[in-house]
Amino acid sequence: MAGLFITFEGGEGAGKTTQINRLAERLTQDGHKVVTTREPGGTPESEKIRDFLVQREGGNWTPCAEVLLLFAARTMHVEKLIRPALEAGKVVISDRFTDSTRAYQGYGHGFDLKTIESLEALVLGGLVPDLTFILDIDAKTGLERSGRRLAAEALSLKQKEDRFENLDITFHERLRAGFLEIAKNAPERCLVIDAMQSVEDIAQQVAEAVRARLRQA
Ligand SMILES: Nc1ncnc2c1ncn2[C@@H]1O[C@H](COP(=O)(O)OP(=O)(O)O)[C@@H](O)[C@H]1O
Ligand SMILES: [Mg+2]
Repeated sequence: MAGLFITFEGGEGAGKTTQINRLAERLTQDGHKVVTTREPGGTPESEKIRDFLVQREGGNWTPCAEVLLLFAARTMHVEKLIRPALEAGKVVISDRFTDSTRAYQGYGHGFDLKTIESLEALVLGGLVPDLTFILDIDAKTGLERSGRRLAAEALSLKQKEDRFENLDITFHERLRAGFLEIAKNAPERCLVIDAMQSVEDIAQQVAEAVRARLRQA
């Protein structure tokens, strides 16, 4: 049995982690074998690369180096975790995937999208999520939510994962527009959800879309 690959995308504080936890719980109750994972990260090696990319003092990378680090982490993630889990018939839910590279480094920082697409061809070998939820929120509200979460985490300043949160608001606005553009270009895969709704309402819409997709499988 082939598994199902679901990704959650969207800006900081959109509610991705909250919704992934809800969905994983629901699918597990329904009897599915569920693997939750995240990017950058997902394997021990990729988690090390994550620290370079997201921590406040992770490094001052050039755009090209940043993209290559993301794809180095992603190839490990795909080969060591995602593909084997899908082959074992599991539902894999990833908190961000390659759409985030397109949105952050492409639309956000202006890195060449064609280059990102050729790296995808190299690293993904045709792997495309079955379903992508794009949680859409205005940049200001998202950053407020994520700021509250970061403040609540008991991490040292050095370990704070706020490298992207600290970029200016116009970056986050480009990011949001980028995610909407990605959804427009792949309507069969992407579902845009208004992330200003309640946690409950969003969870309901997510669950319905996943159940519909599982019935097709
Ligand atoms: N629909 C929602 N309405 C209000 N607050 C939310 C909602 N979803 C999540 N939150 C809160 O916003 C913060 C960020 O949510 P989180 O799931 O960590 O977002 P992300 O993973 O997208 O950064 C958390 O404190 C969370 O409790
Ligand atoms: Mg999160």
